Amino acid sequence: MGRHRSTVRWAMSPADHWGEYARKTIKDHTPRPLLLRALEQRGAGPRAARRTALDLGSGAGNETLALLERGWTVTALDSNAEALEVVRSRAAPDARLTLLHAPFHRLPRRRYALIHASLSLPFCPPELWQRTWRVMRSRVALGGLLAATFFGQRDGWAAEPEMSFAALEDVPGLLPGFGLEVLEEWEGETALALGGTHRSHLITVIARRGRAPEAAGGAAP
Ligand SMILES: C[S@@+](CC[C@H](N)C(=O)[O-])C[C@H]1O[C@@H](n2cnc3c(N)ncnc32)[C@H](O)[C@@H]1O
Repeated sequence: MGRHRSTVRWAMSPADHWGEYARKTIKDHTPRPLLLRALEQRGAGPRAARRTALDLGSGAGNETLALLERGWTVTALDSNAEALEVVRSRAAPDARLTLLHAPFHRLPRRRYALIHASLSLPFCPPELWQRTWRVMRSRVALGGLLAATFFGQRDGWAAEPEMSFAALEDVPGLLPGFGLEVLEEWEGETALALGGTHRSHLITVIARRGRAPEAAGGAAP
């Protein structure tokens, strides 16, 4: 992953480099493990027939396309127009795909069986963090899943004032009314898509709306 301080804000500026990031992270038929795990978790839940998903900060659209391939109706939301253009150029014309040029907290007023947010929420400005979580929670259908990664406080960018971080113990407070099905953290060096390496402190959450809190483990992914 790569970023500049000037790219952190959600402002829909063509000057940020998320477009380049999207072009460099195109992967066919290899969605991130987070999505695959969420789909596995979902199999166990009620209302499994409803397949509407929101891919929040969709980047190159690898997970959006994987969901379409599996029969889902998907809204890919991103604040970067170039990234959305990458998704559009990769997808066959399909009425099940909606591309939405918007910041995280401006979600459509509808509920989804799955909200997927991989490596995107850390780029939410701190002043919009609580609001973004509130809106995200409200858009998950009863029995639906929220699958997200965000950065912990030992991440190499933790001092960045325009990014958002959280601790593992903050997660239940971010997800009232949800049952935690996966809660993990991982720390290590990662290669950035735009070059260089980064010390990552990654927190992974999969939670289901409307279930009592159940499992939470601390193992590395
Ligand atoms: C690191 S990329 C992750 C892309 C993809 N989800 C993945 O896992 O590869 C972060 C994405 O979030 C988008 N993004 C950053 N800030 C955003 C915001 N405030 N609102 C909506 N999208 C945002 C960027 O444009 C970028 O496409």
